[in-house]
Amino acid sequence: MIKIKQALFLIFGITSFIIFYIGILNYITTEDKNIGMVILVFSAIVSSGTFFATFYISNNLTKPIELLARRMSEFSKYNSIRKNGLDDKGIQELYSLNKNFKEMTRKVGDALEKEKQLNQELKEIDSKKTEFMSMISHELKTPLMPIKGYVQLLQKQEMMGQLNEKQLDAINEISISAKKLEKLIQDVLMAQKIDLGKLSVEKDIIESKILVENAYKAFVPACEENGVKLMMSVTASDKVYSDSDRIAEVFSNLICNALAFLPEKDATLEIGTKDNSNFVTFYVKDNGVGMSDDQQQNIFKKFYQVDTSSKRKKEGSGLGLAICEGIVKALGGKMWVQSKLGKGTTFYFDLPKAKIPIQQFRSVKAKNSRN
Ligand SMILES: Nc1ncnc2c1ncn2[C@@H]1O[C@H](COP(=O)(O)OP(=O)(O)OP(=O)(O)O)[C@@H](O)[C@H]1O
Ligand SMILES: [Mg+2]
Repeated sequence: MIKIKQALFLIFGITSFIIFYIGILNYITTEDKNIGMVILVFSAIVSSGTFFATFYISNNLTKPIELLARRMSEFSKYNSIRKNGLDDKGIQELYSLNKNFKEMTRKVGDALEKEKQLNQELKEIDSKKTEFMSMISHELKTPLMPIKGYVQLLQKQEMMGQLNEKQLDAINEISISAKKLEKLIQDVLMAQKIDLGKLSVEKDIIESKILVENAYKAFVPACEENGVKLMMSVTASDKVYSDSDRIAEVFSNLICNALAFLPEKDATLEIGTKDNSNFVTFYVKDNGVGMSDDQQQNIFKKFYQVDTSSKRKKEGSGLGLAICEGIVKALGGKMWVQSKLGKGTTFYFDLPKAKIPIQQFRSVKAKNSRN
């Protein structure tokens, strides 16, 4: 790549040499040496004038361009320009180009600085919000314990005396609402932990088949009660790093979701595993209402619920899938969904196969338990 300075010197250098050369040639070949001398002096003046003009143009043209180029690279590195160094002599257009660039970078620099401050403020607000939510959730948990305790005593009717049918109905309603509130508080606290990266998981070596069988056994009664055909498909059983309690929570939310959206007739639900190189893929497949592409993009966000009030059999808070994804990620896997409106939904999640030697595994486990 050639520089402007070099190009100018090349062009004007050759031009001045040619002019001077013509002057010399003319002096040698002409018979009238006086005229030859005049032409030679004239060509020498023109060629040295051209040479000095090259210096002048090069200084005035290339200097501001070089300055602009330096500023641009400085701005792309530091988001600001430290030195002014503007010279109001020379070529006016280049001077104003430089000046406008300086002005533009000042404005962009200010905007970036403002954005940085806003981000910092947002982070502070977010952490205050998280602290507030944790505090509220803990505070709500405390009075919930005696409410649940007394409700249980009243339901048993042994210590607190007999209740009539109406009173018993009322107590049962209180018990259901207290359980919902307790689940909501637990979910909010769990989502907070995931957000703060404080979710602790055990990474034990477990047969993938066992994880599926546990979920199957836990949901056979609920499926029978709801007339749902529950199937299990485990092609191969590999050992995976997993936390069986946490994975039971994941399966529970996925299966409860599916149960809430299954059709009244011919409802089927399949849970199982598929081999996937270094991972085992677990899935929960239903033939329920399904979701649009747009809805699938959002379901892992906290508190997001598809507006299916008419189709849904059980209400929720929209935290379940965010929690499931958080658990799976903490275990080193990922979660995704495939769905078609009116056809059904399949949720998938991967867990890493337990391939690494036991010594290494112990150190992973120790590291994990420290978190
Ligand atoms: N199998 C499914 N079929 C159709 N829609 C589903 C299915 N699973 C989830 N959804 C949609 O995704 C939304 C989010 O699910 P998520 O489990 O996060 O929350 P939720 O079930 O509403 O509440 P909860 O916090 O009690 O689990 C649901 O409200 C529902 O609209
Ligand atoms: Mg749910």
